[in-house]
Order: sequence, then structure tokens, then C-alpha cells
Amino acid sequence: MEKKTRIIAFANNKGGSGKTTSCANIGYSLSVMGKKVLLIDGDMQLNLSLSFFTEDEVLEFATGEKNLYQAIKKQEDLSDYIVSTPYENLDLIPSSTLMSGMEYELFTKWQREFILRGCLKKIKASGEYDYILIDAPPTLGGWVMNILCASDYVIMPVEASPWGLFGVANMFEFLEDVRGINEDLELLGIAITKVDARKNYYKQTVETLRSTEGVNVFEHIIRVDSEVEWAQDDSKPILVHKKSARSAGEYMELAKEIDETWQ
Ligand SMILES: Nc1ncnc2c1ncn2[C@@H]1O[C@H](COP(=O)(O)OP(=O)(O)OP(=O)(O)O)[C@@H](O)[C@H]1O
Ligand SMILES: [Mg+2]
Repeated sequence: MEKKTRIIAFANNKGGSGKTTSCANIGYSLSVMGKKVLLIDGDMQLNLSLSFFTEDEVLEFATGEKNLYQAIKKQEDLSDYIVSTPYENLDLIPSSTLMSGMEYELFTKWQREFILRGCLKKIKASGEYDYILIDAPPTLGGWVMNILCASDYVIMPVEASPWGLFGVANMFEFLEDVRGINEDLELLGIAITKVDARKNYYKQTVETLRSTEGVNVFEHIIRVDSEVEWAQDDSKPILVHKKSARSAGEYMELAKEIDETWQ
């Protein structure tokens, strides 16, 4: 059977909802499961790149020629912008701080919603990767529209806090707008993150989301775990940083649940 590459965006305009942490650790978990994964850092905060490389290395990518901003600006095939991470089956396209100028860059381009999709065309057609995971910034503009137009699916991480649901309606509306031009885009599911298991509050968040028609909320939730920050400080996936960390196991379970969608 021909290999199919699934492109999944991690998006939520609410800042700090766990997009980058989920993208990095689900990506790593899938790679451990033997899937070939390409991660794309779509945020000028460079957090996804920093999840795998040191600050010096990331700044070198960001200020050099081999980063997402340069590729989009020149509308080039992204194959030439891939860097290998220290891990098997896991590659990355790094970001740049210049991404702050992306909206302007896109504004001047023909068919501007489809620039990223065009840059990914060859990689997708080659079937080299099982998954391409794109980390989106916490905004809802032309660039996130580009990310979603290049994607087959979107995973929306939502923080299980009183304000976590804030903006979910905006995000749903935005997804409807995107479907106007990328009708195949599917909300694969909502990932509940940063759950404080000592409090019952998160159950309300989950219930509210589950009662929304047509929305899948993943069974496996991610709880608050201080190891997440230590791992990020160490530029490593949680599973590499500390194998026994609770969140490492939780992300592995969530990755399996996601992958089972196609079994
Ligand atoms: N399960 C967790 N336990 C503890 N801390 C977490 C957990 N998940 C994420 N965090 C922390 O929460 C903060 C936000 O997470 P993350 O950067 O993944 O969110 P984000 O949605 O990508 O943010 P942004 O909108 O700024 O891109 C980070 O400091 C991260 O270390
Ligand atoms: Mg982020």
C-alpha cells in the first residue's frame, strides 16, 4: 500500500494552551512507535525548535538561510530546509524570529492562503513521512490560515483551566472560515492539557467540550507535570529527559490514540 502522509496542525489562538509541548511530545512518541515524523516550527517564539536544540543552535537556524521564513519568502520546496534532530525518525524545519513579518510577506503574494501548502507539496507527494506536525502560533490571521490550508487535520490543545475554554468559540469559527477554502480540513480532536488532578475543575471543561456536537475530545488527557518544564529547559522530549515522568507516558498514550484513528 502506498504510504500516505498526514499533515496535522496544532492550533489554538489561546496562548499557553500546550500546542508546542503537545506537538513536540506527540511527534517524538510517534517517532518512537516507528513512524517517520517531520515537525514544522510555525511560530516566531521558536519554542518547537528549542524543544530539540539548544538556544545557540536555534539562533543559528533562525538567523541563517535554513528556516521556514526564508522558504516561505522565496516560495521554495521545503525539502531543502529539513534538519535532522538527534532522534531517529524525527526531523524538523526550524523557525525564525523574522516570522513576525510573515503577515506582510504573505500579503503581497498571489493566492496567499496556499503558500505553505505549495512549499509542502513535494514532501507530501513523496510519502516519505507518516506524519507532518505543524506548531501554530497563538494568533488567527493569514499565517495560521496558511498552516490550516496546508493541513489535513487540526488538533486543538485546550488547557483545563477556568479560562481554557475562552476563545474556543473563536477558534471554531475560524475553522469554519478555513473550510471555505480548504473543505477537507478536519478537527481530529481536542487534547486536554495541564490538568491539575487534585482539582475537579477539569471535569467540567471536558464535559462542556464533549457536549459540543461533532467534536472529538481525546480520551487521554495530559496532567500538570513539573518534568515538562525541566525537559524543555534541557531541550529534550520528556520521554528522553525522564523516562518515568508521568507526562511522558501520557503523551505516549495520546499519540497511540491519535495513530489508532487510521488503524
Ligand atoms: N503538562 C504540563 N505540565 C506542566 N507544564 C506544562 C504542561 N504543558 C505545558 N506546560 C507549560 O505551559 C507553558 C505553555 O505550554 P506551551 O508552550 O506548550 O503552550 P503553547 O500553546 O504552545 O503556547 P503559545 O501559545 O505561547 O505558543 C510552557 O511553559 C510549558 O512548559
Ligand atoms: Mg507554542
